[in-house]
Amino acid sequence: MIRIDSVTKRYPDGTVAVDRLSLDIPDRSITVLVGPSGCGKTTTLRMINRMVEPSEGTILLDGQDIQQQPVNTLRRSMGYVIQNAGLFQHRTIVDNIATVPRMLGWGKDKARARARELMERVGLDGALAKRYPYQLSGGQQQRVGVARALAADPPVLLMDEPFSAVDPVVRKGLQDELLRIQAELGKTIVFVTHDIDEAVKLGTMVAVMRTGGHLAQFAPPAELLSDPADAFVEDFLGADRGIRRLSFFPATGLELLTGPIVAVDATAEQVAARDTAGAPYLLVTDQEGRPLGWSEPGELTAGNIRQAELLPYGRPFVAGTDSLRSALDCAVLSPTGWAVAVDAEGRTAGVVSQQTIGEAIRGAHAERRASDRAAERPQAGKDSRVAR
Ligand SMILES: Nc1ncnc2c1ncn2[C@@H]1O[C@H](COP(=O)(O)OP(=O)(O)OP(=O)(O)O)[C@@H](O)[C@H]1O
Ligand SMILES: [Mg+2]
Repeated sequence: MIRIDSVTKRYPDGTVAVDRLSLDIPDRSITVLVGPSGCGKTTTLRMINRMVEPSEGTILLDGQDIQQQPVNTLRRSMGYVIQNAGLFQHRTIVDNIATVPRMLGWGKDKARARARELMERVGLDGALAKRYPYQLSGGQQQRVGVARALAADPPVLLMDEPFSAVDPVVRKGLQDELLRIQAELGKTIVFVTHDIDEAVKLGTMVAVMRTGGHLAQFAPPAELLSDPADAFVEDFLGADRGIRRLSFFPATGLELLTGPIVAVDATAEQVAARDTAGAPYLLVTDQEGRPLGWSEPGELTAGNIRQAELLPYGRPFVAGTDSLRSALDCAVLSPTGWAVAVDAEGRTAGVVSQQTIGEAIRGAHAERRASDRAAERPQAGKDSRVAR
């Protein structure tokens, strides 16, 4: 949908901010531009809505050269969100969000109704509508910025480090919200960040750029983690690349044991009847099946299951939705080396050992390699474009 074709930006002082960049930004997904400070991310983003004009090369939107389009029409099709939201301080929240619809000639009531609808969509309490930006927290202001960019329902959203000024907890909330909005509205989002974890979390495709405006690699995040194109990308990805990659493997295939589980009110017969083969511990649950802790089988007889003596089970993972990374984390945190899987309601679904998780990881890697080969993808993957 957005094709950046061999684009160079040379500023008047001679700085080459972007150097022969080629990138196909897919429709209805999030493409992240990531890289160190000064590598040309903002310049690239601004060339897409012509706030900056390229020195060479072309940018196509739906097959049409953006140079051939009136700049106002182009910008109307692209919402723009920046760090610290960039709100109009003298306008209320609802009027900030209604800005573009008003510019487009909508009546006041219709524009405000749209603004209120968007407040709800981005998770803002309607009670904030009449406040001014300074009366909002940083995270709330950022949400207003997103709502304002969405107001005229543009197909494209350009976002330049929109969440980098807020603390990690608020940031996570904003990221989750953006993923939800993207899933609901199917916008084409180009998102700039210098935070690789944010890039990996949000991006369907991630373009890693290096200083001088060069593209180092363009690939889906799982592929970046498994096959970094060069030492720069590898270094930029940072530590724990292998562990982080496990977030892309679902834990659904893990074989869960239900034998070594007893309820806290089990009778002696029920305890004795448990199948503990292969499991050195028994998991004790409450009557509803929620995990309470681990007990060594030899110490367990009905009537004396005392919660005080149970080993903590750490943190459970949700079977069916969590990743192998979560499952492994649970096993590593558990003093028994066994992870507890629960369903969406928190009831125990089964238990699984570190060793079984390790086997599943090896299996997942082998499966991925086989499917890569079946697709006849080169080592770095067919979606990787390495700078020439
Ligand atoms: N108007 C300008 N005139 C001259 N050089 C510029 C101008 N704007 C940006 N640059 C330079 O172009 C390069 C890329 O800048 P850009 O703002 O695109 O980087 P960035 O990747 O967004 O960095 P950051 O992560 O710090 O925001 C930098 O070297 C910068 O100094
Ligand atoms: Mg920038």
